[in-house]
Amino acid sequence: MSKQVDVVVAGGGGFIGGHLVGDLLAQGLTVRSIDIKPRHEWYQVHPDAENVVDDLSLLESARAGVRGARQVYMLAADMGGMGFIENNKTACMLSVLTSTHMLRAAHEAGVERYFYSSSACVYAAGKQTDPNLTALREEDAYPAQPEDGYGWEKLFSERMCRHYAEDFGFVTRVARYHNVYGPNGTWTGGREKAPAAVCRKVAEAVLSGDHRIEIWGDGEQSRSFMYIDDCLHGSQMIMCGDSGEPVNLGSSELVTINQLVDIVERIAGVRCERKHLLDAPQGVRGRNSDNTLIREIHGWEPSVTLLDGLEKTYAWVYDQVKRSHQ
Ligand code: NAD
Ligand code: GDD
Repeated sequence: MSKQVDVVVAGGGGFIGGHLVGDLLAQGLTVRSIDIKPRHEWYQVHPDAENVVDDLSLLESARAGVRGARQVYMLAADMGGMGFIENNKTACMLSVLTSTHMLRAAHEAGVERYFYSSSACVYAAGKQTDPNLTALREEDAYPAQPEDGYGWEKLFSERMCRHYAEDFGFVTRVARYHNVYGPNGTWTGGREKAPAAVCRKVAEAVLSGDHRIEIWGDGEQSRSFMYIDDCLHGSQMIMCGDSGEPVNLGSSELVTINQLVDIVERIAGVRCERKHLLDAPQGVRGRNSDNTLIREIHGWEPSVTLLDGLEKTYAWVYDQVKRSHQ
């Protein structure tokens, strides 16, 4: 590994990490991208970055990974959409090793700024029982009742960031991402989230001529979805900002899953017959991002519309589906 580097992106072989590395390189920064996956499985490999395959849950690997870095974006986690996190709680919670070892190693190495990617899954379940709910504010994470497994790991790890800041003056930044989507992410295999899954199902319907698709739940559960460009902009803004408090980073455009399917069908120019699977993983009934705090601190909030973001995402997923059928 090279001696000095501007930024380390942990989880750089993943969806958000792959985009972030590209964005940082485009700004002229030197970047070390680290992921546990073999390189051929990375969503994006940027030749100008220092690309490292390593398991950051090991303290010595975390120490080697952050060596000589000014900033660290900690995005590495064993995670996915509801289909994955509901059935792999141990794997999700074991990411705590990666989160704590990276934080410890970054502090020891004298890293100037440390960013942790938390999740809307930290929010208390009791605040998310209604699809027309009021949006989640940062204080709604307590009293703690987060998503089982994955949400507990995120809540614990964001608190570790807080304690490193309070006890040692270490500069930590925490964003609570709300469902992020876009090209070059997981679209099949079981870890995909609703936007990519729906794009895949509709693309398969278009390509096969069989217009029947399966939707998990009755489709009246609600979410907001943030396009990757907003995620990149917001993450770097939070990293460079003055506030160490966890802050929502999500769109506030609330839709039901049925409305999400409507939009994808409109983009694809098709109407599908929907079969609703009522015993499939569904997670909370309703979730939206209250963006008051990010507007107050940064004078900004995510603004890419779901229609605009899904047009780009559907085009990319359609190409992947088509290629996989050849
Ligand atoms: P992703 O699964 O595409 O990327 C995560 C990457 O981390 C993967 O490539 C994985 O191989 C890598 N990784 C896992 N364990 C590792 C280890 N021990 N050592 C090195 N690398 C390891 O996920 P993503 O969508 O890019 O999410 C990035 C981060 O943002 C994650 O921490 C995730 O929990 C968080 N987040 C994402 C969303 C979302 O909607 N995408 C929402 C909330 C939070
Ligand atoms: N994944 C998926 N696949 N979800 C579907 C599908 C499908 O084919 N059909 C309907 N859904 C429904 C799910 O049942 C759920 O109610 C909703 O779409 C959203 O599912 P996901 O996108 O998988 O996850 P989520 O929004 O509940 O949680 C995600 O976002 C969090 C941050 O907001 C996860 O990715 C978490 O890991 C993440 O932290």
